[in-house]
Amino acid sequence: MTFHQRTVAVLGSGTMGSGIAVVSARAGHHTVLFDLDDARVKQGLDRVGDFLDRSVALGKLDAEAGAAAKARTRGTTDLADLAGADVVIEAVVEDLAVKQDLFRRVDGIVSDRTLLHTNTSTLSVTAIAAGSVRPERVVGTHYCNPAPLMKLVEVADGRHTGGWAHDATLDFLASLGKTTIVTKDRPGFILNRFLIPWENSCIDALESGLGTVQSIDTAVKGALGHPMGPFELLDIVGLDIHRQVAMRLYEQLRDPRFFPPPLVDRMIAAGDLGRKAGAGFYTYDDNRLFGS
Ligand SMILES: NC(=O)c1ccc[n+]([C@@H]2O[C@H](COP(=O)([O-])OP(=O)(O)OC[C@H]3O[C@@H](n4cnc5c(N)ncnc54)[C@H](O)[C@@H]3O)[C@@H](O)[C@H]2O)c1
Repeated sequence: MTFHQRTVAVLGSGTMGSGIAVVSARAGHHTVLFDLDDARVKQGLDRVGDFLDRSVALGKLDAEAGAAAKARTRGTTDLADLAGADVVIEAVVEDLAVKQDLFRRVDGIVSDRTLLHTNTSTLSVTAIAAGSVRPERVVGTHYCNPAPLMKLVEVADGRHTGGWAHDATLDFLASLGKTTIVTKDRPGFILNRFLIPWENSCIDALESGLGTVQSIDTAVKGALGHPMGPFELLDIVGLDIHRQVAMRLYEQLRDPRFFPPPLVDRMIAAGDLGRKAGAGFYTYDDNRLFGS
């Protein structure tokens, strides 16, 4: 299957869903963003528009391409609007029952050859696919946050994923300009297996007074060549999401390195969740979810 100007449905218009919608629309696909109510859909579409406008303002995208990408993106609260989608990308809350239920409902609407992708971070692709009557077309595609800026996507097949669905998924991700790595359907895939313990150790270093937010971020960018420091990244991800991912991996792997340090709980209690709250390790005077 070649993926040129296809129809892509993104389920969930939160941080990841709106970011993935940007990627899809920017790549030339007709993109439908689905969420539970109009307000959430509007918020997601606003984020898509805002990111594209900013890309144009920063000279990273030409104005015509930005306008075309916006025109290719629409929102819906009606799953029936997914009919005709070539790819469905699920990016809703990290809850197995919710994801299974959604795939069950999508089954009756899309065609047998529609790819069903899940962006889960910690759940089993096989378990999510069990919600579908066609688990052979379900593939794990784990985008990095912020999706419009980070090139990497981890691809993990479930136990029943078909070879055709795997290959078509790689073709589709290539159409998005993504770099893919193939991994196993295991807790945390590759990235979160080392990213979460590493972020926890950076938070520990901060909490124990080894360095400041700025000095640790500067050290990581300056010495390791990372584009963002751990605290800049954690503010984009959200402290609540970091805690949730860390705990889920801790519960599955029973490795104490995944257990979030106490500072994470104190920050969550204070409402300092990161960019989305206006404050995290840093403070923000805008409500952008993605970096620049
Ligand atoms: N945030 C990250 O850094 C990150 C990175 C990679 C993967 N993920 C994964 O992506 C998924 C989404 O995470 P997020 O950070 O975007 O969460 P989010 O809370 O920002 O967005 C989730 C969205 O899903 C919607 N939703 C909930 N139930 C729904 C339903 N039944 N139908 C349609 N929409 C529904 C919510 O209204 C919300 O808009 C999760 O599986 C998460 O593990 C997150």
